[in-house]
Amino acid sequence: MNTKTARKQASIVIFDTTLRDGEQSPGASMTLEEKHKVALLLEAMHVDIIEAGFPAASKGDFQAVKRIAQSVKNSTVCGLARAHDSDIRAAGEALAAAKRKRIHTFISTSPLHMKYKLRMTPEDVYDAVIHSVTLARNLTDDVEWSPEDATRSEHDFLCRCIEAAIKAGATTINIPDTVGYSTPSEFSALIRMIRENVRGADKAVFSCHCHNDLGLAVANSLAAVDAGARQIECTINGIGERAGNAALEEVVMACVTRNDTLPYRTAIDTTYLTRASHLVSTVTGFSVQPNKAIVGQNAFSHEAGIHQDGMLKHSNTYEIMTPESVGRHQSVIVLGKHSGRHAFVNKLHELGFDAITPAHIEEAFKRFKDLADYKKDIFEEDILALVDETVTRRQQQRQLLSLHIQYQDDKGYTVRVAIKDNEQEKSAQATSQGVIDGLFKAIHTLIPHQASLQLYQVKAISGGTDAQAEVTVRLQQDGVEVVGQSAHTDTVHASARAYIHALNKLASVDSARLTQKTSPIGAVGGI
Ligand code: KIV
Ligand code: ZN
Repeated sequence: MNTKTARKQASIVIFDTTLRDGEQSPGASMTLEEKHKVALLLEAMHVDIIEAGFPAASKGDFQAVKRIAQSVKNSTVCGLARAHDSDIRAAGEALAAAKRKRIHTFISTSPLHMKYKLRMTPEDVYDAVIHSVTLARNLTDDVEWSPEDATRSEHDFLCRCIEAAIKAGATTINIPDTVGYSTPSEFSALIRMIRENVRGADKAVFSCHCHNDLGLAVANSLAAVDAGARQIECTINGIGERAGNAALEEVVMACVTRNDTLPYRTAIDTTYLTRASHLVSTVTGFSVQPNKAIVGQNAFSHEAGIHQDGMLKHSNTYEIMTPESVGRHQSVIVLGKHSGRHAFVNKLHELGFDAITPAHIEEAFKRFKDLADYKKDIFEEDILALVDETVTRRQQQRQLLSLHIQYQDDKGYTVRVAIKDNEQEKSAQATSQGVIDGLFKAIHTLIPHQASLQLYQVKAISGGTDAQAEVTVRLQQDGVEVVGQSAHTDTVHASARAYIHALNKLASVDSARLTQKTSPIGAVGGI
């Protein structure tokens, strides 16, 4: 063992806020079912703390935190709360069933936020810190406190508030770079300054929460850890407010791959990273940029001849970590027309679908056979899309029954669509110069709505003209955005299903969420 690897490894707590800060980004809202699915995957991945939502924000958020608190057993479930009694009580109530629960309460401490956003004096903020932490501590022993906009706060006041929070019982002190303004050297100096100057600092775990406005969220998080922070707040794919948060997969793999210089250990099972990225991208409709570190489509591709040659001779020439270590398997043909049920079920288990029900397996296998009739080579990506589609489709209230397209030079496309709406069959047709326009018009006749189309996106799942098309449709109504997705070898079919999927989701969004999610949280404290 060399001296570098012999360095003492510090444990880092991974606090995932995909379901709270991540979900806050415009267009990323998830349904309760989707949040639950993400939470279970985060638990399976060994995330230490799952920030499941902001219970006081809406009825939907409250229910989601409650549901996650009921089913997650191995991770701590956390709920966010402003420094308001009603927020803190709502968090306590939503978390009541959790095996391990944490309340995360916060208030701004920067002059700018206190004066313009909160309209509170520093003394009022100081009192609110003590009051909110004390109340939260009455509901759980695990309380996290954050001084929002810490990186633009005056040091003396910041330290006073942190000291008060620890004295009132906060067990974790999180330092947010709320506006993504800090730099690595500045941020590590801030954490050091706090740890050296705050009385009782040794009684709390220090945490960092970095936004990515300058593309420095991961670097700042690692700098904070170097200064003694022992918790990193992050999100899958780095989603979050504005430019997002520190990406979980990046901080974790930096510690694994460069453990010689970053001697930190996390509990994360890194082989789940690709699946988690895919799931979050699917439910939010936020595609992952191809060159995204760790989970981007091209993260392990070697295009240049000289690189390919090097890779063939020794993979370390151009690869600093293996695709398998992040749960990515080569895009090889995994199944084909002649593969039987046994091989299919084995593949599902290999891909981690252990909890899938027999009914879903049955339907997914049928869909796999249909796909294999049309598509010669089936890749892992195809199976992932197929299973997602199967599980989603079975839960839908309206479903596509059939689709007919006719083209005439003088008229354009006539698209006829039949759907099943709560056991009732309906059909309609529309004509347009564009096939998708005609399709969406026909569906609009069948399912009237006021939503506006925000995004229509088609992506090929694998290569070749027989590839499945993955279609994403984002709709907005009364300030609420929902995402529908579908994959099919026929782009028009996938488009119809994605549109219907989005409309189904819109119908299931509760009215409390419609009104409350859009009201400016900032008016009463803000994030
Ligand atoms: O960015 C931020 O300041 C936050 C706090 C609620 C921690 O998200
Ligand atoms: Zn944040």
